[in-house]
Amino acid sequence: MSNDEDKTSSLWGGRFAEATDAFVQRFTASVDFDKRLYKQDIQGSIAHATMLEASGVITAEEKKQIIEGLGAVKKEIEDDQFRWSIELEDVHMNIEAALTEKIGIVGKKLHTGRSRNDQIATDIRLYLREEIDRIGQEITRLQHGLLQLAEQEADTIMPGFTHLQTAQPVTFGHHLLAWYEMLSRDYGRLLGCRRRMNQCPLGAAALAGTTFPIKRDMTSELLGFNHPTRNSLDSVSDRDFAIEFTGFAAILMTHLSRMCEELILWASADFAFIELPDRFCTGSSIMPQKKNPDVPELVRGKTGRVNGNLFSLLTLMKSQPLAYNKDNQEDKEPIFDTADTVRDCLRAFADMVPAIKARRDNMLTAAKRGFSTATDLADYLVRQGKAFRDAHEIVGKSVAYGIEQNKDLSEMSLQELQQFSSDIKQDVFDVLTLEGSVAARDHIGGTAPNQVRAAIKVAHDELKTRGKN
Ligand code: ARG
Repeated sequence: MSNDEDKTSSLWGGRFAEATDAFVQRFTASVDFDKRLYKQDIQGSIAHATMLEASGVITAEEKKQIIEGLGAVKKEIEDDQFRWSIELEDVHMNIEAALTEKIGIVGKKLHTGRSRNDQIATDIRLYLREEIDRIGQEITRLQHGLLQLAEQEADTIMPGFTHLQTAQPVTFGHHLLAWYEMLSRDYGRLLGCRRRMNQCPLGAAALAGTTFPIKRDMTSELLGFNHPTRNSLDSVSDRDFAIEFTGFAAILMTHLSRMCEELILWASADFAFIELPDRFCTGSSIMPQKKNPDVPELVRGKTGRVNGNLFSLLTLMKSQPLAYNKDNQEDKEPIFDTADTVRDCLRAFADMVPAIKARRDNMLTAAKRGFSTATDLADYLVRQGKAFRDAHEIVGKSVAYGIEQNKDLSEMSLQELQQFSSDIKQDVFDVLTLEGSVAARDHIGGTAPNQVRAAIKVAHDELKTRGKN
């Protein structure tokens, strides 16, 4: 091929004296990954052409040809008939060249008053907006699953931990509602990100705007954005929304990884608090007895890549001068990977959670070990008139005795307990039982079963209002 032929193969070759080096062409091309944006790219182009016609820049007939041509290109892509070409660099130029091939010279008018810089900024926002909505739905589905399980396990007693040491008895339902809260905050962050992102950069063109009489409100509205972006330089360079989305995702994954860690511990033979459904586990090729919690382990592991993506994007944007820079092409893969990973992890969780079986007996037995009602005994002594510090000391001595005798506080006789304080009376046993202990934490946010049920009701109301704002 002569240089001339090489030059004409690119849509911007006019000012160039020699063809792009073949390696550089491959190195700078993004089509291998940004072809994923074909739908958004065509959607944006249709809105742009519609606006160009309304502004008198192209004729009604030209608009019609462009829109039909884009429809045909889209069909070809979806039928897997489209030949993506690396010489055409990216999704935008591949589609534009295919359009021109189909409808001739009119295809070349589509790019009037536009640049790939505002085009890509629009495409990713459209893409992320869809992903955000799908991810939001998965969060909600998972939260519904948690509420369902929490409802079943509102009375189930388990040890609550601090420092992974038995602390006080809690209900399993209460524990699940703690996870629910984490996800509600994640959902709020996701919504905030969507709201800030939902502005239309089209019209910013390369960086300074365009000399054509464009109607930015119109393209913005056609694409379902809230309003056009306010500054053309910022429009083509801003990737805050990508960082924010990945930031949301990193926090969400951090939450999922914490849940995973607990599920893995609880499913172990040593805890045996839960049974994970077989379909979410795998066996070992050598140890026949094994049932490995692969799904939670993998979700825990995938947190690393999402955190990595957040760092990629933060570092990508650091020190970038205004306005558009080619660096920004590097935003696609971390964005795609983050969306895919988060969606899959949420899906796995939402499917798995309602199928978790609580092994209530084991939870109860574990709660009985570890003197989990020691604080209840101290509180009891306070109600009898002791200062809390003195009560703490008395209970500490009772626990030391229990360890020596291998007896839980609730298993000691009244006489045994009275060695440590004569204020202890028969009614102490009401507070030393696990049921008494949890039922006594009867206030907003407490672990008492009736509070858990009340919190579930509030949560259902919260989920009902979603999607309505
Ligand atoms: N592929 C580019 C990207 O992802 C599209 C914009 C290219 N603009 C340019 N002037 N080279 O950011």
